[in-house]
Amino acid sequence: MRLNSVEYALMNNPLRELLQRRFEARRLRRLGGPLNGGRVLEIGCGRGVGIEIILNDFGADTVHGFDLDPRMVRLAARRTARCGERVSVWLGDASAISAADASYDAVFDFGIVHHIPNWRRAVAEIGRVLKPGGRFYGEEVLEPFIVNPLIRSLLRHPLADRFDRNTFAAALRQSGLRQIQSEQLGRSFAWFTALKPA
Ligand SMILES: C[S@@+](CC[C@H](N)C(=O)[O-])C[C@H]1O[C@@H](n2cnc3c(N)ncnc32)[C@H](O)[C@@H]1O
Repeated sequence: MRLNSVEYALMNNPLRELLQRRFEARRLRRLGGPLNGGRVLEIGCGRGVGIEIILNDFGADTVHGFDLDPRMVRLAARRTARCGERVSVWLGDASAISAADASYDAVFDFGIVHHIPNWRRAVAEIGRVLKPGGRFYGEEVLEPFIVNPLIRSLLRHPLADRFDRNTFAAALRQSGLRQIQSEQLGRSFAWFTALKPA
């Protein structure tokens, strides 16, 4: 589901970039460790800050990113143009990822799966495109935040069948991922890393 105008503005500003770099990415790196090069996918890449983080802070060789919103794809492509062949960005849907089975060493989700009506399908797709030995890094927004009346009045999310930390971890396991590390902040936000067994 595409962002409404309020969330679009919340995602595209310098404060959000600072939070993503200094807080969210560092937490994921602490939970899942750095990458040793590799071919990495970011689902719902937004304006491309995550792609830069995955290249520069996690150490990926190449990063592919896609987003459902053509405006985001344009922003991400512009932002990462200087990375040349190390980055490619396209329009796509995380519930039907246009990539071969077992084609990525890692998949990143900076807060997008909660935007997907059939989020379980997207988690299964993440499991499908990861290589054996590949890693998932995700931060997610949990049901209590999404159903909060104030948040509902400001932001647009699918409301049926949302997840808490345990439900999301169970979906990762059902998609073939193991050794799941997770942390939660209050009732609303959680970070996950997981491994697809070799
Ligand atoms: C909360 S924003 C996060 C954007 C970016 N990951 C960041 O951290 O700045 C969620 C993003 O997911 C995208 N999105 C929503 N549903 C999607 C889907 N089914 N497939 C791919 N991207 C999707 C939205 O267009 C939006 O860019």
